[in-house]
Amino acid sequence: MDAMDVYESALGLIGGTPLVRLRTEGAATVYAKLEYLSIGGSAKDRIGLRMVEQAEKDGLLRPGGTVVEATSGNTGIGLALVAAEKGYRSLVVVTDRVSEEKVNTLRAFGAEVVVKPGGLPRQHPDHPMSFAARLADSTPGGWLANQYDNAANPEAHYLTTGPEIWRQTRGRVTHLVSCIGTGGTISGAGRYLKEVSDGGVQVIGADPASSVYGGGDGRPYFIEAAGHFLHPDTEQDVWPRSYHPDVVDRIVPVADRQALHTVRQLARDQGLLAGGSSGTALAAAHQVAAGAGADAVVVVILPDSGRQYLTKYFNDTWMLRLGFLDGDASGPRVADAAPEGGASALPYLNIRTPVGDALDVLRARKLAGVESVLPAGPCPAGPDRRPTAPELTGSVTLAGLEAALRDGVAALDDPLADHLDPPLAQFGYGEPAQEALGTLTRHLRDTAVVLRDGCAEALVTSAGLRALLPTDH
Ligand SMILES: Cc1ncc(COP(=O)(O)O)c(C=O)c1O
Repeated sequence: MDAMDVYESALGLIGGTPLVRLRTEGAATVYAKLEYLSIGGSAKDRIGLRMVEQAEKDGLLRPGGTVVEATSGNTGIGLALVAAEKGYRSLVVVTDRVSEEKVNTLRAFGAEVVVKPGGLPRQHPDHPMSFAARLADSTPGGWLANQYDNAANPEAHYLTTGPEIWRQTRGRVTHLVSCIGTGGTISGAGRYLKEVSDGGVQVIGADPASSVYGGGDGRPYFIEAAGHFLHPDTEQDVWPRSYHPDVVDRIVPVADRQALHTVRQLARDQGLLAGGSSGTALAAAHQVAAGAGADAVVVVILPDSGRQYLTKYFNDTWMLRLGFLDGDASGPRVADAAPEGGASALPYLNIRTPVGDALDVLRARKLAGVESVLPAGPCPAGPDRRPTAPELTGSVTLAGLEAALRDGVAALDDPLADHLDPPLAQFGYGEPAQEALGTLTRHLRDTAVVLRDGCAEALVTSAGLRALLPTDH
């Protein structure tokens, strides 16, 4: 065995990831940096090691101590593997939107995992960042890594990712494309490449279309770990200190559909199985390369592997249910049912609406001959702002609200939030009508929400679905 292949421990296999040339249209050269080939499977191994070593140096983490972190998974994995190797305990807080694969990987490395509901406003005590901070305080020897504000996060990329890219391209890199989550990767690697090239390297952020970094309204999106989500009830939005916007020349917004189809295609065309945020970054890189000349050398960071998302982005059922796939158009699909109410905008109620106003809407619908059940949720809604699937937190019916008023359980000026029923069923527009009908008949309500690209676009009823099928059904 070549001596180069022998390492003292797993920690020697963090980072040092290769570039691979991608086949792309256009004249520019595009290289992908395969961060999934780091030992823990993502770019976050680098910061896991650096943050722990810095905390040891600063005396914040001592033998027998516990590493605590709130994470969308990968930082927790990086920290957990470093903690395992060094003999620390690790406690990781994730949301229920983090893939099953990442949670299982965390547990495999010995981390104790706490799962909290996703999509909470920042000030909520169960928001992973608040919860992890309390957990670190109440755990003897606990140290909160806090990748969001820890200078060792961008520093890890300044000291390793940036120099690797410069060396690997022999100083020919002209563009760096990276997602922005905590901002550590783009800020650290981007700053290094700008400095070493005397400002010659352009740094481009790739961002989910609704993320606030690129100017979106912060509504939920389906790409894990990239961008910045903003709950409408968040009192004060705070961006991570690990993100240095001054390093970024521009941000390219990428819709989830485009990101997902790009990364699925990458696996099929080029044998590279990368994660969802890699799709966001790659779609942006294609755009950057298309606008650059033949001398351009674009490096795009692929932060992790598609193996972490086999139950999501690479699962056709998941994709179809959220309305990211067209499905089989040779048979009747949910999209073929006439939208209930016929409206172009989805009828929807905000949970802050007073019960009295909601009743007016529901009664008007009944007069119009439409079933009086509506989805409800926390987001403002309108023709340009369709609620996303996770924002459909409940439903209301005319009969239910009238009964609550009659029984004195509800008052006209109560917010709807106090009187919600469970959410309606959801179907992707491409799902077979027959299967959707089967599901709907087992559901509490006869009305379901149709999703396209993860957003609600219409309501359907069992009658609407049944009308699409041969009469013996
Ligand atoms: C899969 C994935 N993509 C992108 C990012 C964003 O990287 P950064 O936090 O360095 O901005 C992360 C960070 O957790 C990640 O795990």
